[in-house]
Amino acid sequence: MSWRLLSALILALAGGMAQAADGKAIYDGNCAACHQPDGAGAVGLAPPLAGTLGKRVATPVGRQYVPAVVVTGMAGKLVSKGITYTGIMPSWAQFSDEELAAVVNYVLSQFNAAELPAGHQPYTAEVFAKLRANKPSGQELKAWRAESE
Ligand code: HEC
Repeated sequence: MSWRLLSALILALAGGMAQAADGKAIYDGNCAACHQPDGAGAVGLAPPLAGTLGKRVATPVGRQYVPAVVVTGMAGKLVSKGITYTGIMPSWAQFSDEELAAVVNYVLSQFNAAELPAGHQPYTAEVFAKLRANKPSGQELKAWRAESE
């Protein structure tokens, strides 16, 4: 193997690892306080992200809903696993498209692996760029969530 090829491989590996590490770091530093480190959520504070999102992303509208939530933020009444939440989640649009993709992919692969649809593709930064350019309203999000139930 040539040195050039070897260094390209090492760079690609390091890049992949950095991305995986970012998702966890962003989650632990920004999401875990409310959704808990294991994604279980906390009654009265934030709904679970574990075991609840895999089935949603199996539908086209749910595939759009999950990344849109972090771009727009969310507030108002939300029922998850029979429990009603009325908290407020800010928008996370201060993160780059790559960072948002990393954190959502982390939540899906770490906390929802068992329910992900066959052939599930991780989100790319491009999805977030598109949502950012055409930010769904809070009402749209609630409608998409209901449709992906
Ligand atoms: C301040 C507490 C708080 C933080 C921090 C927070 N969330 Fe939330 N999150 C909420 C609340 C509250 C809701 C429900 C909003 C509602 O009632 O409409 C929610 C909803 C969600 C949903 C939709 C869940 C569903 O069942 O439809 C996702 C996905 C989500 N958050 C992801 C994240 C991610 C990723 C982060 C970190 C980047 C994060 N949240 C940080 C409070 C928080």
